[in-house]
Amino acid sequence: MTTYTVGYLVGSLASDSINRTLSKALIRLAPPRLELTEIPIGELPLYSRDYDAEYPPAGRELKEALAAVDAVLFVTPEYNRSIPGALKNAIDWASRPRGSNSFARKPSAVIGASTGKIGTAVAQQSLRSVLSFCNSPQMNAPEAYIQFTPGLIDDDGRVTVESTEGFLRTYMAEFDAFIERVLAVLPPEG
Ligand code: FNR
Repeated sequence: MTTYTVGYLVGSLASDSINRTLSKALIRLAPPRLELTEIPIGELPLYSRDYDAEYPPAGRELKEALAAVDAVLFVTPEYNRSIPGALKNAIDWASRPRGSNSFARKPSAVIGASTGKIGTAVAQQSLRSVLSFCNSPQMNAPEAYIQFTPGLIDDDGRVTVESTEGFLRTYMAEFDAFIERVLAVLPPEG
């Protein structure tokens, strides 16, 4: 069986992040051939192009982790109708130095949970335009805007509402199929 490695980035640094809880559910519900590993973003300094000549360890580790995976999944909250600064910072690190953008040709998908009713829709639009610029082929559909109500997903990532569980399972199955399609026509560069 072909397996695909997926690095996931959680956009929140909060210790009790609902997006981290969502990521646990996605790991549970993913097709068995998807291997999900978190790519941490919390230790990165604020990006400056002064670092381009010599990336610090956290920046190098981020780029190595992205290079090692077949695809990237963004699980992010919405902060003030956009993505959190920590996530944008990580993307900026990964997109540089010029000519070594880690997202180029790398299939990606976005999903997020918020306490608000529109479930990160505006943040996801913002993230999509960033990923377009970074030349990442993105899964367009299904979109997934999760309004996180208390108890929707337990601390171990078990989804308590059947329709939501089914939706998230389908979302991950579609991502799996999308990765396969993209890698068939855009194999990773040597
Ligand atoms: C929020 N929240 C929020 N929710 C939303 O739906 N749209 C928004 O624009 C914002 N803006 C926002 C800004 C900041 C600075 C914070 C801290 C929060 C509420 C947000 O959905 C809620 O805090 C979630 O719990 C955030 O996800 P994590 O951090 O728990 O994963």
